[in-house]
Amino acid sequence: MEVIIRDNPEDCAQIVANVVARYLDNKDKPVLGLATGSTPERMYKKLIELNRAGRISFKKTTSFNLDEYVGLPPDHPQSYHAYMKEKLFDHIDIPFGNTNIPDGNAADLREECLQYEKRIRETGGIDLQVLGIGSNGHIGFNEPIGSLSSRTWIKILTRNTLRDNARFFEDESQVPRHVITMGIGTILEAEHCLILACGHHKSEAVQAMIEGPITSQCPASALQFHKRATAVLDVDAACLLRLKEHYRWVEENHLDWQRYDLPNRFEK
Ligand code: PGA
Repeated sequence: MEVIIRDNPEDCAQIVANVVARYLDNKDKPVLGLATGSTPERMYKKLIELNRAGRISFKKTTSFNLDEYVGLPPDHPQSYHAYMKEKLFDHIDIPFGNTNIPDGNAADLREECLQYEKRIRETGGIDLQVLGIGSNGHIGFNEPIGSLSSRTWIKILTRNTLRDNARFFEDESQVPRHVITMGIGTILEAEHCLILACGHHKSEAVQAMIEGPITSQCPASALQFHKRATAVLDVDAACLLRLKEHYRWVEENHLDWQRYDLPNRFEK
């Protein structure tokens, strides 16, 4: 896994926004995998600025979100449908019909999962999958001990995740227990997986993902199998990594085309 460490969340968000911008620039019909939660918010703000400034366009982009709660109406403020509209879609030029989020209110949830996989396949697959990581090592809503080759399906959240996400609801009992999430197998099929993590509270999960064994106890560790996975971390999320000096050394010796910090037209 490629590991990029920066001093603060702002610089991390800039790197991820740059990578997204490059995909939009380089692909005729980019397909983005998108994440929710607090982690990507800064990055979405940067993409909105770039789009408003006319430096990138989402007109030909198709997007697939990782997950959605089961049973929350799409206009519920904590649904990921509402999140994506508020944080990104309402502010950029992506055609609304090109955006895909699992329907947690589908009459037949199992059929919805199969259709979601089919829609991803029909676009030719995801070019860049943006991910966050849960404090328990989940990606999407793939909780520990689930299959490392799972496909989009209905999952039950762990009590740890219910506690983590309670901050967005009135209390923990309001957090839906069921979700639809892309599976680990679905995520691993993206051309490039880019996982962003910031803050001390992510440091144990980050250490397990990058330097621990590949195990369903830390679903994000499955990214070690991926041919192109990049972790973008702030110093707090990276604080438990044992090989920090090695990651810095590798980055310092990147060839120009591999580098993330060269001034480019997407930087402010
Ligand atoms: P967070 O969630 O960005 O709100 O920390 C990440 C996740 O649970 O995947």
